[in-house]
Amino acid sequence: MKSANEKFIELNRLAEAGNAARIEKQHQAGKMTARERIELLLDKGTFVEIDKFVIHQCSNFGLDKSKQAGDGVISGYGKIDGRLVYVYAYDFTVLGGSLSRTNANKIVKVQKLALKMGAPIIALNDSGGARIQEGVSSLSGYGDIFYQNTISSGVIPQISVILGPCAGGACYSPALTDFIFMVKEHSHMFVTGPDVVKTVTHEEIDKEGLGGAAVHTTKSGVAHFIGETEEDTLLMVRELLAFLPSNNMDDAPKLPTTDAYSSSSDLDNFIPADPSKPYDMVELIESVVDGGYFFEIMEGFAPNILTGFARIDGKVIGIVANQPAYQAGVLDIDTADKSARFIRFCDCFNIPIVSFVDVPGFLPGCTQEHGGIIRHGAKIVYAYVEATVPKITIITRKAYGGAYIVMSSKHTGADINFAYPNAEIAVMGQDGAVNILYKNVSDEEKEKVRKEYEEEFSNPYRAAELGYIDEIILPSQTREKLIQALDMTHTKIRSNPAKKHGNIPL
Ligand code: HXC
Repeated sequence: MKSANEKFIELNRLAEAGNAARIEKQHQAGKMTARERIELLLDKGTFVEIDKFVIHQCSNFGLDKSKQAGDGVISGYGKIDGRLVYVYAYDFTVLGGSLSRTNANKIVKVQKLALKMGAPIIALNDSGGARIQEGVSSLSGYGDIFYQNTISSGVIPQISVILGPCAGGACYSPALTDFIFMVKEHSHMFVTGPDVVKTVTHEEIDKEGLGGAAVHTTKSGVAHFIGETEEDTLLMVRELLAFLPSNNMDDAPKLPTTDAYSSSSDLDNFIPADPSKPYDMVELIESVVDGGYFFEIMEGFAPNILTGFARIDGKVIGIVANQPAYQAGVLDIDTADKSARFIRFCDCFNIPIVSFVDVPGFLPGCTQEHGGIIRHGAKIVYAYVEATVPKITIITRKAYGGAYIVMSSKHTGADINFAYPNAEIAVMGQDGAVNILYKNVSDEEKEKVRKEYEEEFSNPYRAAELGYIDEIILPSQTREKLIQALDMTHTKIRSNPAKKHGNIPL
């Protein structure tokens, strides 16, 4: 007879081995197993599994004959770059990774541990959704997961990785987390699948076109990152975590840099003198941050604004920047959603916000007005004002009208505001202004006032005279000025009036 230890070793081996045929099927579908994914995501050998012997409690529809140790989720904790993280991975080889009540209990257990210990949690999704045989028990499990997602929001970073199907209400757990990763052509998210869509709306569309990674990282803005392969995607998760603190009381990890204090004077010629000429804001950012490395977030969605992380003198910063190379960097509904959520993430997690501003205004037109640019645009103001982390702004060229105010101006609470000598800060551009104020005068007269307007407003000096700009700096001074400003604001103490919570326009 086997000893207790031998029996345990055998059971352990069986639990970890899973079902060979189903694993083979998973591989044939071009997907890794839950265990392989966790192995790749975490530092080698650091995974500690919890609830390995949990089994489901359902006997409906013959499920009593289909029990597997661990059920359809593998959960536990481990390390990424030596830092504690919690992880759970739906195991598609067990009843399609469907969510049983016991799977939900396993997930909620690690969610609670992550919150209690103040460490990030990563969900690896690959699931057929609610376990149909369990009915409302399964639905209650989702409810408990959503509850925990919401309670943990702003306390610990929560990351979702979609590596297969994620349908129906199951989408709302990832949607409640901070960042969603998807894999090209292998992951899908939709509230209702193609068949239901066809029945209800008569639209014919496949699952990739309806909710594939390309759709969610460019059109819907649901997902933040797209990876070429599962491996590529999981490595990106590791990269993101390097920029994040473990919780809202912690600072993001600092990395030493050997970069020079100042930038080359070549940067002074980078921005075109002609204000209508585009340039790539990414290049400007890369030329001032440590190692020239800008980790962009939501790169494919609303590209007229850039969001992402970088380091200055080793310290993590969140960057929000208008992108003149795309639609002149105009603000619209999607840019508002993208930037406001990012600003709020940085504020939750003590990450200073650096804003690079070159903005002609808000995008005019019926699509924007009827789509609610007023309530969406208000999110940017709200997010900047509410943010108590250090806020530093650099006006690189245009800052017109409401967009000037909105983009982290002194008036909406920025701590330090810089402008380059070629900055233009005014209610609107010279042509628009002259056409409104002098619409009935001769062309010659118009040209005269246009020049006058240019002299008066197409520079940063008026704003500097009023103290709205703290310093006018050369582009080549950007890095050193950011280092000084981040250093000076490091001890910033500010809190908003006590309240249950504000009422951000949604
Ligand atoms: C129980 C399920 C299941 C589910 C899949 N399986 N989904 N078992 N409950 N929800 C089982 C299958 O029966 C099958 O078992 C195995 O998992 C693999 O599934 P396949 O269909 O063979 O795989 P594939 O062809 O890759 O298709 C995957 C799939 C499909 C697209 C996910 O299985 C599917 O459409 N499933 C149902 C999806 C769904 O409607 N879920 C409910 C959504 S509503 P065997 O033993 O035959 O291999 C929802 C509400 C949440 O989730 C609400 C939250 C508030």
